[in-house]
Amino acid sequence: MARLVWLAFLSATLTLSHGNDRPNFVFFVADDLGIGDVGCFGNDTIRTPNIDSIAAKGAKLTQDLAAAPVCTPSRAAFLTGRYPIRYGMVGMDGPVTLVRLATPTGLPRSEVTFPQLAKDHGYRTALIGKWHLGMNCVWAGDHCQHPNKFGFDYYYGPLYGNGPGCHPDAESFFGPRIAQIIYSRLHLWEISTSIFVAILALKYFKYIQWKTVFLLSVFGWSLAAYPYVVLTKGVRRLNCVMMRDGDIIEMPFDISTMTPRMTLEAVKFLEESKTKNEPFLLEVSFSNVHTALFPYKEFRGKSRHGLYGDSVEEMDWSVGVVMATLERLGLTDNTFVYFTSDNGGHIESGDDGGSNGIYKGGKGQAASEGGIRMPTIVQWPRKIKPGTIVSEATSQMDIFPTVADIIGAPLPQDRVMDGRNILPLLGGAEVTSPHDFLFHYCDEYVHAVRYRPKEGNVTWKAHFVSYNWDPGTTGCYTTFICRCGGPEVTYNDPPLLYDVTNDPAEDRPISAVSDPRYAVVIDVIKKAVEEQNESLTDVKKQFGISNFIPLPWLQECCNFPFCDCQEDVDLSSLQIGG
Ligand SMILES: *[C@@H]1O[C@H](CO)[C@@H](O)[C@H](O)[C@H]1NC(C)=O
Ligand SMILES: *[C@@H]1O[C@H](CO)[C@@H](O)[C@H](O)[C@H]1NC(C)=O
Ligand SMILES: *[C@@H]1O[C@H](CO)[C@@H](O)[C@H](O)[C@H]1NC(C)=O
Repeated sequence: MARLVWLAFLSATLTLSHGNDRPNFVFFVADDLGIGDVGCFGNDTIRTPNIDSIAAKGAKLTQDLAAAPVCTPSRAAFLTGRYPIRYGMVGMDGPVTLVRLATPTGLPRSEVTFPQLAKDHGYRTALIGKWHLGMNCVWAGDHCQHPNKFGFDYYYGPLYGNGPGCHPDAESFFGPRIAQIIYSRLHLWEISTSIFVAILALKYFKYIQWKTVFLLSVFGWSLAAYPYVVLTKGVRRLNCVMMRDGDIIEMPFDISTMTPRMTLEAVKFLEESKTKNEPFLLEVSFSNVHTALFPYKEFRGKSRHGLYGDSVEEMDWSVGVVMATLERLGLTDNTFVYFTSDNGGHIESGDDGGSNGIYKGGKGQAASEGGIRMPTIVQWPRKIKPGTIVSEATSQMDIFPTVADIIGAPLPQDRVMDGRNILPLLGGAEVTSPHDFLFHYCDEYVHAVRYRPKEGNVTWKAHFVSYNWDPGTTGCYTTFICRCGGPEVTYNDPPLLYDVTNDPAEDRPISAVSDPRYAVVIDVIKKAVEEQNESLTDVKKQFGISNFIPLPWLQECCNFPFCDCQEDVDLSSLQIGG
């Protein structure tokens, strides 16, 4: 008997020390999903049973913050654990700090991501879905900023994510408007006509021959016409590109089958990891619920909130399939599962945009809770008790150091890390936020600051900037999204101060005149902003108007020169629908 017990003990120890017992990771990242769109965060008309179930079996983070109110910088901060301003993911002077197709912008190669950290520690890693952090630097095909270069062994998905331009009718309603803006801002036609006149003058004074006049003119005018052709004839074809590792597999992609296809890929990745008995890190980065809204046919017309609600429910179905796969493979118990959104719901999209619950504002607004407070949940049965609620301030940047702690990897020592390990908070060992301050950046400007004194239980938030909302709303409907600077914002002097612990909807500013706490708190916050400023170094800015123009030699293209290809998919192994 004693011998049997000893054997059982020995085999248990062996299993524990085996690679297979290292925790696995699954990250779900939604696109533009609002905190008010999810059942466990208070929505009673959209059905999200699978997401809610993760919260019930794990922890709900009710004050989890994105580092930026738009996709690209927010995703960069999530992956690197650092504020986007530290590596130049700023510079548009607006919230439109987005990587665009065929431009050389993206996440600098000097940045380290947490998937890279995991890969370096023996993990199998995959990104399935939206990337939106760059692709080519010098020529199409150099793939200098491909997910494979940032720690993902496997990549499958839409390079830049979904967008209104990926709607099947996009060229007719979207392209001409953008083309008009580019031409009016950059005076491309005027410039190219002047250059043509100059070429003719050179010919007149016999500096060049007719043949050269012809060649130069064709080249110059093709360059000037290129944005127009791209935007009105090819906006969908050229922007809505899907890849598998380094291969372009679909152009333009079919958004209606995207989520089921991604789900199938995620299931395959999990099954392979189980077969190979290797620890894994999977990120499923949804196109849902960004416009264009095109849920798969089984989900259309099924929700109570139009195409938007259908798209949320489609995503919830997909989360359910992945969770059921973990369960089937016996991996639930030791897998760290995380669900979040990259920024708040885009309220200016009307019925096509989400709800940010009781919070004001939405996508694009860094100072507004609706722009940055995310519907985040975490499950890891081994370490997190079911039904845990974390109401202290946390940040999506915390994932990097948290993963590092879980896998026993040291943090990079050559850079400032803005995220903090939140495992003690999730496991109940700690009850106070690890952040004294969180800076809410809009592009390169600090619009608001959170301050959590170690004593007491109040989290303060100072607003240095307010948005010029359309009357009676908390959005910028005339410009479709609020801007980060210029005449469309108001600088608050003195800053507005709120107690977001007791007034989360920010309805009652603390009086600067009669409340003695005001001066004390603002003083501490101002010093913190100065210190934060001093910690920044000069880096190249990734965005600017010059990076807005697509460059033909950076354009991905399959089946050249048609840029037209479709993936053959068989979805029959999936049970699709609610
Ligand atoms: C649920 O979400 C829908 C769609 O965003 C929204 O219209 C509705 O107001 C939300 N309900 C609640 C209670 O927040
Ligand atoms: C804040 O802390 C005080 C004293 O520790 C406690 O009485 C109070 O209930 C707490 N308030 C909240 C909202 O947690
Ligand atoms: C921080 O730096 C920015 C840009 O350099 C500047 O505009 C701002 O005034 C600085 N803020 C503080 C508090 O030093």
